[in-house]
Amino acid sequence: MKQADRQMVMVGFLQAQNCSNYPASWRHPGTADDFMTLEYYQRIARILEEGKFHLAFFDDRLAMPDRYGDSFVEAVRNGVRVVKMDLVPALTAMGLATRRLGLGATYSTTYYEPFHVARVFATLDLMLGGRAAWNVVTSLNNSEAANFGQREVLAHDLRYERAEEFMEVVLGHWDAWRDDALVMDRQSGVFADPAKVSRLDHRGQWFRSRGPFTVPRSAQGRPVLIQAGQSGRGQNFAARWADLVFVIYANLEVARQGYRGFKDAVAAAGRNPAEIALAPAIYVITGETQSIAEDKAAMIDNLAKPIDTLALLSEVLNFDFATKELDDPFTAEELAAISGLQAIRDRVVQLSGKANPTVRDFATFSGRGRLREFPLFVGTGAQVADQLEEWFSAPACDGFVLAATHMPGAYEDFVRLVAPELRRRGLFHNDYTGNTLR
Ligand SMILES: Cc1cc2nc3c(=O)[nH]c(=O)nc-3n(C[C@H](O)[C@H](O)[C@H](O)COP(=O)(O)O)c2cc1C
Repeated sequence: MKQADRQMVMVGFLQAQNCSNYPASWRHPGTADDFMTLEYYQRIARILEEGKFHLAFFDDRLAMPDRYGDSFVEAVRNGVRVVKMDLVPALTAMGLATRRLGLGATYSTTYYEPFHVARVFATLDLMLGGRAAWNVVTSLNNSEAANFGQREVLAHDLRYERAEEFMEVVLGHWDAWRDDALVMDRQSGVFADPAKVSRLDHRGQWFRSRGPFTVPRSAQGRPVLIQAGQSGRGQNFAARWADLVFVIYANLEVARQGYRGFKDAVAAAGRNPAEIALAPAIYVITGETQSIAEDKAAMIDNLAKPIDTLALLSEVLNFDFATKELDDPFTAEELAAISGLQAIRDRVVQLSGKANPTVRDFATFSGRGRLREFPLFVGTGAQVADQLEEWFSAPACDGFVLAATHMPGAYEDFVRLVAPELRRRGLFHNDYTGNTLR
């Protein structure tokens, strides 16, 4: 696509939880309380579709954030992302409430079996008319491991090794039925052509899976693949497999470099960089005037508590931050032992300028659990659009994953004030094209 023809990919970053990415969101007076009902997710889906979002995407973690102080008590008391429901029922309900919106969910390659994941997403994709996407994650902490009968999480690079083979199995199964395999001819009595169905017979290091796969191909062939690895190993994995990649970039300069590096990795993997979209997570707080937007931002920022940050840092880095004092520097051994999202550790080292940052540095420079975790764009629709345009045309991204400061208000505001402004500038599509998410 020519530079001038590029348009943004827009994704809603959702949680089937008691709060959004922003843990304090549940304390916001405008937050809807019916997050354990299907109607809640259907309402959000309709808002996103009205705004022509390409995709609604759910993240996931298979445990509470209970690494901090080795206890769930404060996380539960303070509602720090502790309710986490399965995503497939939510996606199904959202699919029934919409016609074009893409619907994506996170499933782990470390704790699930490939045949199972292949079947769940192939079924969703068939039944949603080719709108399903799978966010491939390798999971990250010991709490998840404990819920699946293991003492600790598999080492970082081993998780990716398992994930590579997992993808071979899933994609192999997704190719088991040719597009024209189904005959369904009552006259001849032929249901499907067995010559057009094959068995995978996979025997690898991590998995054995025979087949034949039991779900025919969907309108888009197979679900869209999303990935969000940010380490060198993670980026190579994403460059090899993903159609859409999510990242966390601290600022525009980091994003510009990261974007270039990622596109180079895609080319090195023998794929076309223009076809793999990269979208950083962001927050947007918008209002009719700049001062309305700034007042909203101050109010939302005030909802956060220190426990939000400490619980979520411990969770994502797989390190108990309660074992250290606030101004204690991390030793080299401790930094090396961080086995969760290493990109957050690296960001803290880089932005603090310290080889041995403290707990306070981690809280400040990761922004975890706060609005500063992702780039925050505050202002009128036009002011926010200016900033998104600056990132998009740098180029530092192909679109955005919009995290919500509260639900569903953050999406309503974006759809009402920012999306029309982006459309006026030709940066965002006027309507859905094609029949499938792909
Ligand atoms: C926008 C975004 C969303 C993510 N969503 C999830 C998620 O839902 N579940 C999860 O376990 N990890 C999630 N991750 C983490 C990544 O999948 C990956 O596990 C993590 O970045 C560690 O891999 P790395 O060391 O290669 O970066 C997300 C990361 C980003 C940037």
